[in-house]
Amino acid sequence: MARFYVLLGPPGAGKGTQAKVIAEKYGLVHISSGDLFRENLKNQTELGKLAQGFMTRGELVPDDVTIAMVRDRISRPDCKKGALLDGFPRTPAQADALSVMLKEFNSKVELVPLIDVPTQELIERLSGRWTCRAQGHVFHEKFNPPKKAGICDEDGSELYQREDDKKATVENRIKVYTEQTAPLIEYYSSRKILVKIDGTKSIGDVSKELLAAIEKA
Ligand code: AP5
Repeated sequence: MARFYVLLGPPGAGKGTQAKVIAEKYGLVHISSGDLFRENLKNQTELGKLAQGFMTRGELVPDDVTIAMVRDRISRPDCKKGALLDGFPRTPAQADALSVMLKEFNSKVELVPLIDVPTQELIERLSGRWTCRAQGHVFHEKFNPPKKAGICDEDGSELYQREDDKKATVENRIKVYTEQTAPLIEYYSSRKILVKIDGTKSIGDVSKELLAAIEKA
């Protein structure tokens, strides 16, 4: 059976950073809804133009649009063995829709690691984040600096700071997470598939804790 994992956590908790490690270790496809929107934005598709305003304000893109985009991505042949979802679902309606779409593939969500980090640390992480333009590799000027400032260690492409990492937008993203996404903690806890991971440790130690939780599941 295909294996699907959902990485849950507030903005800046380290979902993208850890998703790359897990996806590589298990040969899983990494699906980041934020990256899919940013790709559409870069290519100026209708979907990208629609998502832009929501993203700039730090609000969620409407459920119907987001669900259709992820459904399309999960239906592709490379997800036959499963995938690691990062940033989706973000509302109970999205979680319900995910469960329905996975049922169609005779599958289900195996485990939901919640990467837990206090708010003050999130702001510091996001204000120092640098992202690779080509493939979304993530660095931090203090906690995980690239060997050469402004250049991605992995593929040599330019690093940039995300538009929605400005302080006011970050604060709104955290508020939106608390109001609209945090209810998923109870949603998945009650289904006994949520596992809490201490996201305040070093990147390497968080990876170890996450991989151990997946092995145990
Ligand atoms: P999205 O791109 O998903 O953003 P997010 O969830 O806010 O998460 P981030 O990418 O900001 O953080 P992360 O947890 O991946 O942290 P990272 O690993 O980079 O969404 C953007 C927007 O798209 C949303 O606001 C919304 O508008 C829209 N959207 C997306 N999905 C949607 C959905 N399902 N429904 C509706 N709308 C949706 O790490 C952060 C920094 O910390 C980095 O610099 C990293 O190097 C550093 N770091 C990581 N781990 C550690 C550590 N352990 N110690 C120290 N530093 C660390």
